[in-house]
Amino acid sequence: MKEIEIITTITERSYNELSKDERELVDAARKATAGAYAPYSNFRVGAAILLDNGQIVTGANQENAAFPSGTCAERSACFYAGANYPDARFEMIAISAIGTDGLETAIPTAPCGACRQALLQYENIARRDVPVILAGRQTIYTVPSVKALLPLTFTEF
Ligand code: THU
Repeated sequence: MKEIEIITTITERSYNELSKDERELVDAARKATAGAYAPYSNFRVGAAILLDNGQIVTGANQENAAFPSGTCAERSACFYAGANYPDARFEMIAISAIGTDGLETAIPTAPCGACRQALLQYENIARRDVPVILAGRQTIYTVPSVKALLPLTFTEF
């Protein structure tokens, strides 16, 4: 028998401890929450993706009366990036969410399982680690890669 330990190390920092690029991406994710259409959950998520062409692409959750038809912020952003910049590679992702109290969540919001899988595809295409910044009101986590959020991933790559 052999035990295999899977360890993920994440970094906790304040906004001021981020690099300029990271701050810019967090700003974009926070701003993107304004585009959320969330009349059912009142939970507004914004995602921002920095591409290797310098573009920042954003997305926000879009809910639908036919519940499963809506989509999360991360998937709206990564599918937009894939559709509009098919040759660009992902460099970094940031996520922010405003809770039902109208404030950015104190605990940084992490992507759901489906979004982790969707984002992983683009990390694989990029063939490099794509850090994920999870922005909370004061606390900001940086995860070193998408695959760190999804151990033992399903992948064809
Ligand atoms: N949501 C996201 O946009 N991203 C996630 O990773 C988790 C959840 C959205 C979906 C739904 O519109 C709302 O947040 C509440 O679940």
